[in-house]
Amino acid sequence: MVVLLIQQLERLQITMTNQTQPSNQTNDQTVKEPTIRTENVKVYYGDALAVRDVTLDMYRNEITAFIGPSGCGKSTILRCFNRLNDLIAGAKVEGTITFEGQNLYSKKVDPVEVRRRIGMVFQKPNPFPKSIYENIAFGARINGYQGNMDELVESTLRQAALWEEVKDKLKENGLSLSGGQQQRLCIARAIAIQPEVILLDEPCSALDPISTYNIEKLLTDLKEKYTLIIVTHNMQQASRISDRTAFFNAEPTPKGKQGYLVEYDETETIFQTPAQEATQQYVTGAFG
Ligand SMILES: Nc1ncnc2c1ncn2[C@@H]1O[C@H](COP(=O)(O)OP(=O)(O)OP(=O)(O)O)[C@@H](O)[C@H]1O
Ligand SMILES: [Mg+2]
Repeated sequence: MVVLLIQQLERLQITMTNQTQPSNQTNDQTVKEPTIRTENVKVYYGDALAVRDVTLDMYRNEITAFIGPSGCGKSTILRCFNRLNDLIAGAKVEGTITFEGQNLYSKKVDPVEVRRRIGMVFQKPNPFPKSIYENIAFGARINGYQGNMDELVESTLRQAALWEEVKDKLKENGLSLSGGQQQRLCIARAIAIQPEVILLDEPCSALDPISTYNIEKLLTDLKEKYTLIIVTHNMQQASRISDRTAFFNAEPTPKGKQGYLVEYDETETIFQTPAQEATQQYVTGAFG
């Protein structure tokens, strides 16, 4: 009887594991649904078309990297995913972007709620000028967190691999930390409000190699739980940590540079056997 119960529980656990961690094409033929899907997305700033042809599927428990030369629209596209472009006067998004199957730009969607579910970490670490503790607690409190705040702060800082370094100085200002620690604090702050997706725009570009290594390791751990999308100029970083890579390029037009998506595939393919000549040239450092 007990053995039967255990077997049933195991079976249930396997089913649940398959549900929470779908793969693209699993043995039981279930097809993985993208967390974020873009179809023919274009973004304008005023009359100028800044980036076009962006069709991408991005998945849970994966890291998707955006690479490409400066000005090709990587940050612009990333900002579309949590509707940050709404805050830029003249910015206009065309095409379709869905998040968990829902049109992200539907009138029914509240951009504030989108930004809670899809967090963002920027290039320059930007902790609040408050205590380390408050950097985590502040957003959670605003979002109506009712649980034990000390526990949330600890578990979040542990998830961000920062707890051991800061546990004895939680009252100190977040700005007193090193750049790498500040960036992990910003990642912790993003995690504290329990997002589903974390967008990271060149999160390591201001960091030394050891801090960069720590962030990369952290991101690899975090993908067990989240959908991660990272913009990076560091080719090794994209090939080390990402599952899929989107290569963007830009071409001159009479109205200035215009970015476009060249190719999107599994990272190994993009770095080893890309379909496009331009991708091959970029990943081998011939331009950019
Ligand atoms: N707020 C803005 N207003 C007007 N144009 C903008 C704005 N932000 C970006 N652009 C333009 O959109 C294009 C894409 O810029 P974006 O910052 O997305 O590129 P990027 O690929 O992130 O570049 P980088 O690698 O330098 O960060 C550029 O031509 C840029 O000048
Ligand atoms: Mg950018």
